[in-house]
Amino acid sequence: MFFRHYDWRRAWLRAHWTDLVHPAALAPLALMVWDALTGGLTVNPIQDLTQRTGYAAIILLILSLSCTPLSVVTGWKRIIALRRPLGLYGFLYATLHMLVFTALDFGLNLTLIVQEIVEKRYILVGTLALLILLPLALTSTKGWQQRLGRNWKRLHRLAYLAVPLAIVHYAWAQKSDIRQPLLLGAAVALLLVLRLPLLRRRIETWRRALVARRQATLCGHAPVGETRRSDGG
Ligand code: HEM
Repeated sequence: MFFRHYDWRRAWLRAHWTDLVHPAALAPLALMVWDALTGGLTVNPIQDLTQRTGYAAIILLILSLSCTPLSVVTGWKRIIALRRPLGLYGFLYATLHMLVFTALDFGLNLTLIVQEIVEKRYILVGTLALLILLPLALTSTKGWQQRLGRNWKRLHRLAYLAVPLAIVHYAWAQKSDIRQPLLLGAAVALLLVLRLPLLRRRIETWRRALVARRQATLCGHAPVGETRRSDGG
């Protein structure tokens, strides 16, 4: 009886595990709304909301960027299914972040907002990152992917520019300690390097060789290449 339930749950999880991205990505928003309604924000609630939405945005964007390199390194192709929802949730938080700043902080006063964007370089760079992400979010559907064909991939490569710009924005927004943006910046740099075609092919070759070696060991004989070498071939 227990095993029957266990198998059923495992099968459900196998088929639907990617759906877990939705509650996980929406949890910070739910917590923010809860804190706002119950007085759980800090003494500077606007700053608290700006920081929390900004942080959620950057983490989700980086997680979205990590799906492809992770699938290359591990061979786990299904993780690619998370790339789009993670990116879209990242964009959602970035938009909320910008709305907190423009609506709550500046009361939608366009003159003051433009003045602030022009005067503060970190806000200028953040705005640029968000503007770059906008067409990516709008064209993220299957329909747009088919309509744009090869250009879809080219357009979506702009994420490799938007995320580093968001990191620069994060670093410049800090008053003193920039260790965290530096750490995230290093992670983004690594994720971008892992996408370089030459390195990507190398990693895939190593991974396949490793799998072949492990399978051969399990079957009790050496991989083909090693057999030949030991035969003197
Ligand atoms: C992709 C776009 C963006 C991302 C990922 C992003 C992310 C972040 C992050 C991570 C922080 C630091 C939060 C912390 O201190 O823990 C931050 C700060 C800030 N961002 Fe953004 N941001 C983006 C765009 C924007 C835009 C468009 C604006 C306004 C037009 C903006 C306004 C601000 C402000 C005012 C702060 C300083 C908050 C404070 O410490 O007082 N950001 N952002």
